[in-house]
Amino acid sequence: MGAARPGRSAEGGLAPAMAARAYDRIGRLQDTQAPIERAAVERMVVAGRLRDARAIFELGCGTGALARRLLSDVLPDTATYVGADVSPRMVALARRRLEPWPQRSRVVHLDGTLPLPVPDGCADRFVAAYVLDLLEPAYARSVLRDAHRVLAWTPT
Ligand SMILES: C[S@@+](CC[C@H](N)C(=O)[O-])C[C@H]1O[C@@H](n2cnc3c(N)ncnc32)[C@H](O)[C@@H]1O
Repeated sequence: MGAARPGRSAEGGLAPAMAARAYDRIGRLQDTQAPIERAAVERMVVAGRLRDARAIFELGCGTGALARRLLSDVLPDTATYVGADVSPRMVALARRRLEPWPQRSRVVHLDGTLPLPVPDGCADRFVAAYVLDLLEPAYARSVLRDAHRVLAWTPT
């Protein structure tokens, strides 16, 4: 993903500690990718029916740009958001960005171990924008398995 995509490990992906170091350096620069990412992210908002979401979990929330957009323009007023990232700097940026929604949002720092530090069935949407493709393939598969645990099944 252009200038903000750091180098890969020999296994073909970024281990969590490597990702944390890289994205701590990138920080706010990540937002320069927004014009390139916008169309795909908007497709995700529509395809994922995020306007109907009750509780969102976002893996790799970065600076909190998507979270802010969701909380200000997309989600129902009662919906909640939990973001998670391995980069302490990204977590700090996202927390600052989400200060207007203290009751509805939370950003957690991940140490890269699984399961993710959230309860079973706590979300009805699990989103990750420009994250899974960065990960080591085996780790990405494990994250997706854990996403099934995090997601609550809701009849429609
Ligand atoms: C390309 S950026 C995308 C950020 C944001 N989703 C966006 O679209 O602007 C990738 C993000 O994933 C985070 N990340 C990388 N590996 C991760 C992992 N194993 N678990 C959680 N977050 C991770 C990085 O720290 C970074 O914030």
